[in-house]
Amino acid sequence: MNTYILIKDIQKELQGYLDKNLSIGFVPTMGALHDGHLSLLRRSKQENDVTVCSIFVNPIQFTNQQDLTGYPRMIEQDSKLLTEEEIDILFAPEVDEMYPPGEESRMDLDFGRLDKVMEGKYRPGHFNGVAVVVRKFFDIIRPARAYFGKKDFQQLTVIRHMVEALQLPVEIVPCETVRESDGLAMSSRNLMLSISERQLASRIYDVLMFTKANAGSVPVKKLQVMAQKRLAETPEFRIDYFEIVDKQTLLPVGSWDCPEQILACTALYLGEIRLIDNMELFS
Ligand code: PAJ
Repeated sequence: MNTYILIKDIQKELQGYLDKNLSIGFVPTMGALHDGHLSLLRRSKQENDVTVCSIFVNPIQFTNQQDLTGYPRMIEQDSKLLTEEEIDILFAPEVDEMYPPGEESRMDLDFGRLDKVMEGKYRPGHFNGVAVVVRKFFDIIRPARAYFGKKDFQQLTVIRHMVEALQLPVEIVPCETVRESDGLAMSSRNLMLSISERQLASRIYDVLMFTKANAGSVPVKKLQVMAQKRLAETPEFRIDYFEIVDKQTLLPVGSWDCPEQILACTALYLGEIRLIDNMELFS
């Protein structure tokens, strides 16, 4: 595997592949890699000639300074894992390389309600930061396909919207959420949970499964309240939201009329750690 920290160096290698018409698959990450990330990377390897993984803890998408400084960083372990997975290229730039001092780092793109609801409400500016960095990566790497997890469903939706609005020449490939054996969605943030918190965390999955089991038979609003109550039975959870929404608009649904469109989404704090998860209710 070749590792680059400078844009001009990675571009030199990638230009060679583009000249030969080889397809580039791209998996953006913030590191502390787990099986969720690896599932995206394996899919990219299957579908492309060359796979690039980026590791960059993007400061402008963090809305909480403590979350940014505490975010797990383990580049050597990650690099070893990527080598074992036979990933072709790791791009791990420093902050100044992605955001040269003095350069404007906002994006003037209207996401409508997509970046205002759910995560957007609790983390204003977060998706703008995600969109800016992903667009920069697309410009640098020029992938044919880029892989995003459904674990971060709202992020996936915002990125799809950006690609469509700016007509970027990249295919966005959504990938299923990979879970631990007790159902907890894999996340780099799980590493920051204490042993007792880690045990409680799987109750998020239990409530999503409960919601799925009752979807269609209990009225939407009633089921949403029942699920919220179940979450609240764990006093260690501080719930930001639990919502039943449309997969495209991310707005709350009032009925089960378009079942294949319906998603339950939740975010909560367990101690200092904020966890998010979601589940398609009819798939
Ligand atoms: P990060 O949280 O490292 O996630 C990188 C990618 O892995 C995202 O597309 C995310 O949805 C996916 N992923 C995380 N956990 C997963 C799981 N359990 N199953 C399947 N996929 C999973 O998301 C980011 O980084 C950043 O916002 C980024 C897109 C890199 C921009 O900075």
